[in-house]
Amino acid sequence: MPTRINQPETAMSIDSADPASSDGGPVSTIDLTIEGKQHSLPLIEGSEGEKAIDISALRNTTGCISFDPGYQNTGCCKSAITFIDGEKGILRYRGYPIEDLGTKSTFLEVAYLLIHGDLPMQNELKKFTLEIESNSLIHENMLQFFNSIPPNAHPMAVLSSAVNSLSIHYPAFFAGDQDAETFEVMAARLLSTIRTIAAFTYKKSIGHPLVYPQANVSYCANFLNMMFSTPIKQHVVDPDVERALDMVLIIHADHEQNCSTSTVRLVGSSKVNLYSSICAGLCALWGPLHGGANQQVIEMLDQIKKQGLTIKECLALAKDKENPFKLMGFGHRVYKNFDPRAAMIKEMCRKLLKKKEISDPLFDIALELEDAALKDEYFIERKLYPNVDFYSGLIYRAIGIPTNMFTVMFAMGRMPGWIAHWKEMHDTVPFKIGRPRQIYIGEKERKYPPLSKRKQFSIMSIFQSAS
Ligand code: CMC
Repeated sequence: MPTRINQPETAMSIDSADPASSDGGPVSTIDLTIEGKQHSLPLIEGSEGEKAIDISALRNTTGCISFDPGYQNTGCCKSAITFIDGEKGILRYRGYPIEDLGTKSTFLEVAYLLIHGDLPMQNELKKFTLEIESNSLIHENMLQFFNSIPPNAHPMAVLSSAVNSLSIHYPAFFAGDQDAETFEVMAARLLSTIRTIAAFTYKKSIGHPLVYPQANVSYCANFLNMMFSTPIKQHVVDPDVERALDMVLIIHADHEQNCSTSTVRLVGSSKVNLYSSICAGLCALWGPLHGGANQQVIEMLDQIKKQGLTIKECLALAKDKENPFKLMGFGHRVYKNFDPRAAMIKEMCRKLLKKKEISDPLFDIALELEDAALKDEYFIERKLYPNVDFYSGLIYRAIGIPTNMFTVMFAMGRMPGWIAHWKEMHDTVPFKIGRPRQIYIGEKERKYPPLSKRKQFSIMSIFQSAS
């Protein structure tokens, strides 16, 4: 018997629901008819009018589960951190538009906002900055780890391992444990040491001595100094570069329930410590469909240049379903109009290249590629636009950050978001371990054969039995 969803009269009036009830609580009900039996499910609404059918009691009341591969229609939590309207190209952290935060705030202010819920007052920012500063060193025993990594190790492998190993060197079991450091200290350590770990990884890869973090230096200037100073030459931080980097980090700071953030939540829901939860997020971010795309974009642009491919040829490759090639830095699960982060990064990239009088042929190729793709029927039909990764790598290149460290830069930016989501999840009542279900499509129960009676099902045996 067919299953259908009915929306009764009462549910039709949800648009006029009292905004006071738009806090994720039920505003109405939905009737669901399964095999002739009607069930009533709550319809909930968020503060921006987003609606969801609350199916948390679905299996208990109907015996069915929902099925949504890739979680394209599944909300896994209620969250007050970030709002995205993918159709309108809106991104807000705690209600503040990304355009305002990116141009008026600093990365540390935004980190505070995401983690604590509001922009800091002067004294709060001072305290937060001091916490970041006083937790910038890593345990010296961790240097043995840095000494043991081969120079060509991928920096994301080094970063994720080093972040997990923070839980070896610092007491970091679940935040409720008596011996554990406070959440604030763990958060400050992560925000701060990710810079130190990233810079140490780079220095080791080029065989240079490590440069330690400094006091009374801005978040980004400290990182740039650790990356580019040497015993023979002190790096002078260019304020334009410092500002550009700060903005790029802000833009990456959170993006609600993406692959890495939902990984941090899922892993953290087992009540493992914050460092290990973030380590899992780092591994998820590394993939080329997620944060790894920024490295792939530059490698793609570089290949286009080296192989002398025309833009037309490149688009044809991306459209060819027989070819695994994709236009990296294009497309997004949520943004179906434009990615506001991409627009901001493109502008910043243009400004920085001009200011530093850099002529980057890859930037020109990127502009041409974007222009052609946005006019192409394939990309228009599928609503594929440049995403945050399309231009971010070009900024990192202009700053002098090596290509294989681009995803590390994304991770540095995303750190406050991951921490904020981990905290929000732990503060949620009732607390639930994350545990999706499945539709099993394997063998039904069968009789166990002893080893001597098992049949070989190799391709060869099929041919042999046929001949
Ligand atoms: N180049 C060519 N075709 C594409 C691309 C692309 N970059 N992205 C999507 N498509 C096509 C895809 O083949 C499919 O076509 P069809 O309908 O004919 O089968 C259609 O567009 C829908 O794509 P999808 O893969 O089903 O969409 P999704 O929402 O599952 O995936 C995505 C989103 C970001 C993984 C995907 O667009 C992609 O692989 N992009 C390239 C990698 C990339 O830039 N990733 C960074 C994402 S932004 C940073 C972050 O937050 O992670």
